[in-house]
Amino acid sequence: MRRAIRFVLALVVGLALVTWVVLVVVQQTTRAWFEKDVNLRAQLAVSGARRALISHWQEEQRAGLQELLDEITHDERIMAAAACGADLTLLSRTREFPEQISCLELGMHVRPETDTSDAAWTSWTSEKSLPGGNVHVSAIPVIDRNQALGFMILVHDLGFVERREAKTRLFLLLAFGFLALAASAVTVVAARVSWRSWSNDLRRLLRGGSQRPEFQPLLRDVRELVERIVAEKDGDREGGAWTPQRLKQTLNRYLRGEKVVVVANREPYIHERSKNGEIRIVHPASGLVTAIEPIMRACSGVWIAHGSGSADRETADRHGRIRVPPGEESYLIRRVWLSPEEEKGYYFGFANEGLWPLCHVAHTRPIFRSDDWKHYRAVNQKFADAVCDEVDSKDPIVLVQDYHFALAPRLIRERLPRATVIMFWHIPWPNSERYGICPWRNELLEGMLGASILGFHTQYHCNNFVESIDRYLEARIDREQNAVVQRGRSTLVRPYPISLEWPIRWLKKVPSVDECRTSVFRELNLPQDALLGVGVDRLDYTKGVEERLLAVERLLERFPSFRKRFTFVQLAAPSRTVIDRYRQLNESIEQVAARINERFGHGEYRPVVMLRAHHEPPTVFRYYRAADLCYVSSLHDGMNLVAKEFVAAREDERGVLVLSQFTGAARELTEALIVNPYDLDEASSALATALRMSTEEQHERMRSMRSFVSEFNVYRWAGRMLVDAARLRSRDRLTGRLADHITAVVGAS
Ligand code: G6P
Repeated sequence: MRRAIRFVLALVVGLALVTWVVLVVVQQTTRAWFEKDVNLRAQLAVSGARRALISHWQEEQRAGLQELLDEITHDERIMAAAACGADLTLLSRTREFPEQISCLELGMHVRPETDTSDAAWTSWTSEKSLPGGNVHVSAIPVIDRNQALGFMILVHDLGFVERREAKTRLFLLLAFGFLALAASAVTVVAARVSWRSWSNDLRRLLRGGSQRPEFQPLLRDVRELVERIVAEKDGDREGGAWTPQRLKQTLNRYLRGEKVVVVANREPYIHERSKNGEIRIVHPASGLVTAIEPIMRACSGVWIAHGSGSADRETADRHGRIRVPPGEESYLIRRVWLSPEEEKGYYFGFANEGLWPLCHVAHTRPIFRSDDWKHYRAVNQKFADAVCDEVDSKDPIVLVQDYHFALAPRLIRERLPRATVIMFWHIPWPNSERYGICPWRNELLEGMLGASILGFHTQYHCNNFVESIDRYLEARIDREQNAVVQRGRSTLVRPYPISLEWPIRWLKKVPSVDECRTSVFRELNLPQDALLGVGVDRLDYTKGVEERLLAVERLLERFPSFRKRFTFVQLAAPSRTVIDRYRQLNESIEQVAARINERFGHGEYRPVVMLRAHHEPPTVFRYYRAADLCYVSSLHDGMNLVAKEFVAAREDERGVLVLSQFTGAARELTEALIVNPYDLDEASSALATALRMSTEEQHERMRSMRSFVSEFNVYRWAGRMLVDAARLRSRDRLTGRLADHITAVVGAS
């Protein structure tokens, strides 16, 4: 109905415009016609009376001239007349002749100044506005045997023209109004009739009433669309927000509650034996863990991970299994044990000295060793075997995480051909040229194509991946479906930007913003009016920690008012410290921090505070809440969940996020101050802007980012992948049934 009203309105507006244009054209044309008509009448009147006029032109005949003029004005359109002599003086005039019109004024037009010969006299006509309304004035020379005696002035009433114009206008408006109504009515009726017959046809088609092959693609598309709309409507019933319950329901509804198996190198709970002999649980600093752990709580299932903690073996059962989270025990961790050689080759070597720098544009050269590759392959096989141990059906849902397991999807598929394998690549995917330097590029791609769905954070990384396939493998790229098809099997390649649980469970245990600020300021020995910036990262060269400190140094150089007032605290979790490049990074960051403190420190005041240790989430959130700004300066990052955590922590809607443009998060958190971390002037200006930002602006930006992160939370991320997987599964099941049927028919014949 609303659409019909909109259509009729548009039609009426269109017709009104057309009417207006037609009116203007008609008015101008009729006026031109009337003027021509009036002139012609004047000429006729003068030429008809010409003889008599000439004979009464002489002075002694003026009484007769007066009578002649009165006679001429008997014509209903001629209001008044006057006769003017050759010297432009008035000879005679009728009573109604307007005072405002003079022989002298009109004579200038009839007798040209440049040529005073009698032959040059000419008629002249014009419209004139008088107090009683507009009149039309014609001046016509009176010539007797080539001698100009003078000229006649005839004044015509234009009132009748205006009356006619008004009438025409009214008729036209009525006609167009009627036309608009009729056209609207006809269109609406026609649209309703054709919509009804179209939807009847479609209904017939969907019920299988038509077997015509040309309708089959259309039929498939419509069915898909209907399924999608129904799925989205189902979601709406729960208010549109993605929650753990909704994710669980999605799993039940679309995947019949099937168990989820996660494969990720890093485990969410690491058991470490402390120096005092006690066992403590460590929550690792890993974006992957931050995102996936809430999914496992919601869905339950098994998380297969490397058992890396010093007390992991003694806390797990003989199969390496342990129920987590402690006290809640909603899912299982299955620990896979690796020898030091395996860990060195697969984790430190191939994954972190090879693939990690290969995928990140951070100027660290990737190192590929064949020995590492051998371990990488073996460990991928080991994890694929663990998956087969843990599943309880022939078509499980397996979520393979990250660059540690590029080969696992194919290895799993070889043993479980009907599994739905979803692989998510948490880091960027490089362009095909850069990717090509990996000596085992084809094997990795083949391995990944074992997945049913391959997810990246951004469309850009999907494109890079598809380009790499195009360049290095024999496979068909189905750009319409965003899929890669190889040996009849297709892998969907789609962007699924990762996010956080919402609300974050840790925040329940974290004190209020004011309390956090007080306690953190006390810990750092800062005065009340100090300004605090925070950075939270693993000590990794991709995070741009060095560039971040240099930006702080530049800030203090360029804006002296922040000296002795601004402190930047960096929570830096040591990471992959066995690798040389990480050790070098540690050293250089120490040096930069020391230099800045040397340059700008004063008494107790130190501009940079490095807290180099693992910090448990409640501490990290306390720092987020205490800070005036958070600077995320990654040189290249798939998403970066620190940025989203800072936003999630700020229930007070205060604090400013300064965010590197090279993070996936910068595409979503557009209200952050987006900077190029290499550009120290730009970054330091952004820090200054953040520190000076008004409370209102902080609120506005933070509110908008919080609403984005809460809506696009990690339950939605997982939900979208699971719904896509469910669609694939129902398609595959149908194809499977069809294949069984054909085999049975062929076998019987
Ligand atoms: C990145 C990777 C994750 C990894 C995390 C921590 O976020 O994408 O897979 O878990 O870094 O690194 P680590 O080597 O300590 O697991």
